[in-house]
Amino acid sequence: MKALLLSEYKRLQIAELPKPAPGEGEVLVRVAACGICGSDVHGYDGSSGRRIPPIVMGHEAAGTIAEIGGGVRGFAEGDRVTFDSTIFCGACGNCRRGDVNLCDNRQVLGVSCGEFRRAGAFAEYVVVPSRILYRLPEKLSFAEAAMLEAVSVALHGVSLAEIAEGSTALVLGAGMIGLLTLQALRAAGCSKVFVADLDSTRLKLAQEIGATAVLSSERDVVAQVLQLTGGVGVDVATEAVGRNETVKASIESVRKGGTVVLVGNISPEVTLPLQKVVSRQIRLQGSCASSGEYPRAIELMASGTIQVAPLITTIAPLEDGPRWFERLYAGEPNLMKVILTPEAVS
Ligand SMILES: NC(=O)c1ccc[n+]([C@@H]2O[C@H](COP(=O)([O-])OP(=O)(O)OC[C@H]3O[C@@H](n4cnc5c(N)ncnc54)[C@H](O)[C@@H]3O)[C@@H](O)[C@H]2O)c1
Ligand SMILES: [Zn+2]
Ligand SMILES: [Zn+2]
Repeated sequence: MKALLLSEYKRLQIAELPKPAPGEGEVLVRVAACGICGSDVHGYDGSSGRRIPPIVMGHEAAGTIAEIGGGVRGFAEGDRVTFDSTIFCGACGNCRRGDVNLCDNRQVLGVSCGEFRRAGAFAEYVVVPSRILYRLPEKLSFAEAAMLEAVSVALHGVSLAEIAEGSTALVLGAGMIGLLTLQALRAAGCSKVFVADLDSTRLKLAQEIGATAVLSSERDVVAQVLQLTGGVGVDVATEAVGRNETVKASIESVRKGGTVVLVGNISPEVTLPLQKVVSRQIRLQGSCASSGEYPRAIELMASGTIQVAPLITTIAPLEDGPRWFERLYAGEPNLMKVILTPEAVS
């Protein structure tokens, strides 16, 4: 089969690899679409240490079942499916509690680090365990389905915030995660959602897909939020950048007793305005990946409540993968999700 192989850091090439065979409890998926994730771009140059070559990356994918392994029930060849990017064990304490995102034996497709290596979906075929599969409704295209991981991340953060109907919210960062969080907050019943970013093209997109108002981070975001909320602050802020200044702004933008959901994590450490958090009794809630949000994400996308089409920059052939990785790695402006397809996407 054809695959996009990271043969050494910063070197991707189309290679001919053996077509994998599904083992017990696994299925072989013929890949129709696979999105390039920020973590793949960080893995590309070796900086994350989680994509040690040679490795086929890619974990945000959808396609059709080509072959079923032994003991797999409930799925058939030809089914249109997507899969969770996290392979959880189902047996550790966290899995048993339902926190599969926190699985102690968590594996990710398309990742190689230390002893661990699992081929990903930038290829014609990929093998995945059937317990992470989800069937896709006809109205969802494969390319849209490749966005499910990011939509689930947004839904997970919002579900942890426990939004009350009519709440007000602020999203810091209008990137992929921020723009999906905006839509997830709307779907959860927020009456007003403000979005802040430095990049005016991203703010324009935020406005088009439902932001109540967009705030330029070139100016004081906290002052703008206080002005829009009669000096009170918002009920919930989702931090989707992961930097010192945006974490600080999210804490200072919520009302007393408000919640800050921390999703962004570009910086490993930030300073904490401790006395503000304590004296205003603010809840800081970390949010990692997703746990069980895929079915709801599929529903919200199929019904059009969450739109991903405006966030797809291009659907390109797998052969063009090296060029798109270069462009993403170079930080070219105005690129959102790039989806690669080893065949014509339906
Ligand atoms: N917790 C999770 O499960 C999870 C999952 C995916 C991504 N993430 C993290 O979420 C963050 C966002 O991911 P993404 O894919 O949307 O990234 P992205 O690069 O698409 O978006 C980041 C946005 O932040 C904006 N930004 C940068 N500095 C800013 C500032 N000072 N003020 C306001 N806006 C600023 C950028 O202009 C950009 O629009 C990253 O830190 C990523 O690692 C977390
Ligand atoms: Zn991803
Ligand atoms: Zn587990």
